[in-house]
Amino acid sequence: MFQGRSFLKTKDFTTHEVEYLIDFSIHLKDLKKRGIPHEYMKKQNICLLFEKTSTRTRAAFTVAATDLGASPEYLGVNDIQLGKKESVEDTAIVLGSMFDGIEFRGFSQEMVEEIAKYAGVPVWNGLTDEWHPTQMIADYMTVKEEFGELKGRKLVYCGDGRNNVANSLLVAGAKLGVHVTIASPEELFPEAALIKEVKEMAKETGSKIEVTADIDAAVVDADVLYTDVWVSMGEEDKFEERVNLLKPYQINRELVEKINGDYILLHCLPAFHDTQTEYGQMIEERFGVSEMEITDEVFRSKNARQFEQAENRMHSIKAIMAATNGHLFIPKI
Ligand code: CP
Ligand code: NVA
Repeated sequence: MFQGRSFLKTKDFTTHEVEYLIDFSIHLKDLKKRGIPHEYMKKQNICLLFEKTSTRTRAAFTVAATDLGASPEYLGVNDIQLGKKESVEDTAIVLGSMFDGIEFRGFSQEMVEEIAKYAGVPVWNGLTDEWHPTQMIADYMTVKEEFGELKGRKLVYCGDGRNNVANSLLVAGAKLGVHVTIASPEELFPEAALIKEVKEMAKETGSKIEVTADIDAAVVDADVLYTDVWVSMGEEDKFEERVNLLKPYQINRELVEKINGDYILLHCLPAFHDTQTEYGQMIEERFGVSEMEITDEVFRSKNARQFEQAENRMHSIKAIMAATNGHLFIPKI
């Protein structure tokens, strides 16, 4: 059952449950486009707790909660006592006594798990250093919208192979029967224990999991190319090391020309595809690199679906909140 559960990592959910969330997201998107109300969380109060910055996740939770009839309230970490003047446990008990559900984005996975332990209401992980589970529903929803089905499709993730997005793509892909290849330098391969665990999960769905440094060979039969920033939030001291390691893993024209057949391009965003950001300018000045994980040309190409994917964050976060905390009947899945 979904009701009353937290959404902390994809691993906690079965294949059928993840599939249900994707299909429910597509349904809610259709209701929204047709102007059909879906206030499954009427009169609820939803806490949006952010230790790290966000555009999409914050906006998606805010709009989704409002569409569901709930009232969202943003609490930035600098506005509240969390961790500095009050323990995580005490904060979770207090917030859980007032709010009907809590979104948390922060550094440690342990913290979101601890909030869920003490809050007594569903807690949704809006990203930690380890996992980005709400992103996965939007990502595979976007793939399903494009190709009609997920099983047997191949997703190739190029770049930092051990970040929250790469970890999450592996787990969700294995659960959904999607073949997932991580193409990254060996220094940034996913943890061996995770690869082993994901390969076990993949046995049940027929998904093929591959980790390789050979990006050119990896992309040839890709249906989906995916990339993320080279330096994640909290790692800002690592730009030099990552630029050097990841330059050969950039998604650019030369790389996409190696793909046989149709493909789409995904990026969880924000992206460094030009120098229109402070970081983008700094990287150009320091290293002479004006485009990082993806070139501007490919970012703007006809294959790009990152803005559809971004919109889908809202529909899928709505599905996750409604399934776990809404007034609706979901048969046992
Ligand atoms: N993709 C994503 O999580 O975006 P934000 O950091 O803007 O929320
Ligand atoms: N890996 C990125 C994802 C941002 C949505 C980060 O953690 O900064």
